[in-house]
Amino acid sequence: MSSVMKLHELIKAAFEHDADSTIKEAMLYSLGGKSKQLRSQLILAMLEDYGVEAMFGYPSAIALEMIQTYSLIHDDLPAMDDDGWRRNQLSNHKQYDEATAILAGDGLLTKAMEVIVTSEYDAALKVAILNELTLASGINGMILGQHYDMQAHHLKHNNDVLKMYSLKTGMLFGAALAIGAHLSNQGYLVDNYRTIGQSLGVAFQIQDDLFDLDKSEAQLGKSKSDMENEKITIVTLSGRKAAIYLMTNTLNDVIESLKRMHQHDYVLTLIESIKQRGY
Ligand code: IPE
Ligand code: IPE
Ligand code: MG
Ligand code: MG
Ligand code: MG
Repeated sequence: MSSVMKLHELIKAAFEHDADSTIKEAMLYSLGGKSKQLRSQLILAMLEDYGVEAMFGYPSAIALEMIQTYSLIHDDLPAMDDDGWRRNQLSNHKQYDEATAILAGDGLLTKAMEVIVTSEYDAALKVAILNELTLASGINGMILGQHYDMQAHHLKHNNDVLKMYSLKTGMLFGAALAIGAHLSNQGYLVDNYRTIGQSLGVAFQIQDDLFDLDKSEAQLGKSKSDMENEKITIVTLSGRKAAIYLMTNTLNDVIESLKRMHQHDYVLTLIESIKQRGY
């Protein structure tokens, strides 16, 4: 079984004892869509590189995938990007309704914390992981980035847009590598890994913005709305060529930094798969 499929199974199992409701159904609906599971796979790849059992990473990988999925359900809502298609299927509020999608998102964020709290990690590790997850997804992290994104029409400089990327997308990638470091008992390297992960997220967001212009909705498995929403991105500010240059340079810097940290065969393979998606 591929590790993506495996994680899907484990995620489903995490809801086994929860009351049946439309909210539970809606959460499982979006979790069951065609996610690349990049952030959670990064946690597992960190563990592989450090020779730690994959099983040890599962609760963290599941929790991060739940947070990622919640962020997308809310990102698609009419009040935000207003997108009807996500992960090769109708977005949550189209399949259900807006109230259900809002609650499903809230439910996933809460469930992520529950997965860590009820895991078999020792108390110190639970606190460390919850700290990473709340830092990354909270009001100084992804939420603040999404807030800036909603007001992005005011942004005029590349650096402001990069700051927004680093928050809305970089922080969850940063959490993935930082959590991987915690779980691999590399506590003193956590800050370095968080920073490297954040840059990886910035490169990933630049690529996503390029794709929004250049690829079809069928290729992406999601709606494209940047143009319609008049989003300011690195691409609209500086052009495709500069965006590709920045993305490539950022990815190469990330790869070099990782190589200096440790022999990162698995993490680097995942990053290679991001590169292979092109631009
Ligand atoms: C989408 O992330 C949101 C962005 C930061 C661009 P992904 O492209 O990783 O989406 P999933 O999780 O695979 O659906
Ligand atoms: C979303 O960025 C980042 C999140 C934190 C959810 P986008 O709005 O560009 O992501 P897509 O293109 O809808 O996947
Ligand atoms: Mg958005
Ligand atoms: Mg969006
Ligand atoms: Mg996008």
